This record gives sequence, C-alpha cells and structure tokens, in this order.
Amino acid sequence: MTELTLVRGDITDQQVDAVVNAANSSLLGGRGVDGAIHRRGGPEILAACRDLRASRYGKGLPTGRAVATTAGKLPARWVIHTVGPVWSREEDRSALLASCYRESLHVADELGARTVAFPAISTGVYGWPMDDGARIAVETVRATPTSVSEVRFVLFGEPAYEAFAAHMS
Ligand code: APR
Repeated sequence: MTELTLVRGDITDQQVDAVVNAANSSLLGGRGVDGAIHRRGGPEILAACRDLRASRYGKGLPTGRAVATTAGKLPARWVIHTVGPVWSREEDRSALLASCYRESLHVADELGARTVAFPAISTGVYGWPMDDGARIAVETVRATPTSVSEVRFVLFGEPAYEAFAAHMS
C-alpha cells in the first residue's frame, strides 16, 4: 500500500530515496525545482545528465518520460528527472502530465526506491493551474501500481499545499 503524504517546504531538503525533478528536455538545468536540485546537488548531477544526453537521450528527454541519476550532495540516493508539459489552452496535455508521475514511479520501482518526493510538476514555469495539477498528481499516483511505500508531495507555499490537500481528502 502506498502512503501519500503532503509536506510544505523545499524538495532539496527531503530525506528520501528518490527526489523527482521538474526538468526540461535538455536535462541541463534550469530554474525552480531544477535549479534548486542542481544547485544543492552539485555538479555530479549535471555530469550524469550530460552522460544521458551523450548516450540514450541524444535529442533530450521527451515530455512525460523519466530517467534517474545520482542525487549528488542531496540527502537522497537518486534524482528522477521528468519533463512536464507546458500548459496549453488549445490542447489538453493532461495525459502527458499524468505520464510524468506514472513513469517516475516506474523508474523508482526499477531502482528499488521506497520513498519518493514529488514537486507539483508543471505548475511553475510551465504554467499549469495548481488545482488541476494537484488533481492529476493525486489521481495518477493513486492509480499507479508501485512498490513505493511513501509518495511525498513537497509543496512550496500555502496555495499549493491547500490544492493538494483538497484532492487528498
Ligand atoms: N521545492 C519544492 N517546490 C518548488 C521548489 C523547491 N525548491 N522550487 C519551486 N517549486 C515549485 C513551484 O512553486 C511550482 O509549484 O515547484 C512547482 C514546479 O515549478 P517549476 O520548478 O517551475 O517546474 P515546472 O513548472 O515543471 O517548469 C519546468 O522550469 O526550471 C525550469 O528547467 C525547468 O524548463 C523547466 C521548467
């Protein structure tokens, strides 16, 4: 049984087996969660991402997919990088956002990770409305068979926390 928990705070502080990064397809860093993870995790993470770009992901990591690297100096064993969809008014990209959560759990299972911390993927720079992003996160994790024992949603700020709490009740 997978326990879903909510935490207010910084994802780079989480002492879990795997931390999920809201990356972009280049895997070469960015702002928000991506910036914090690379800043706090150190150059080892970027080096591992560069290796992935030089091997399996020559064209970058596609939206909705997930891949693991070392967590460097973070209090975790792995970072699972996933690329969320950019919000679009014209096109419903919900399936791609759901895929980020599902694929990240599959990668966690391949690693043998038992505790996984997720940010609210796509709800920052990528503009996804928080409430819908929370709904997709909670529904997808609940619907995905996994050996992960704790999925911890780590939220920045009260609105995000409230949005997730509303979908967890
Ligand atoms: N810990 C937890 N949550 C955080 C942190 C942090 N340190 N920093 C930001 N957040 C929150 C944001 O407030 C937002 O709710 O994580 C959510 C995701 O925001 P982003 O990090 O902007 O990610 P996303 O919206 O998926 O955009 C990804 O941004 O940083 C670039 O390289 C990244 O191009 C990619 C894009």
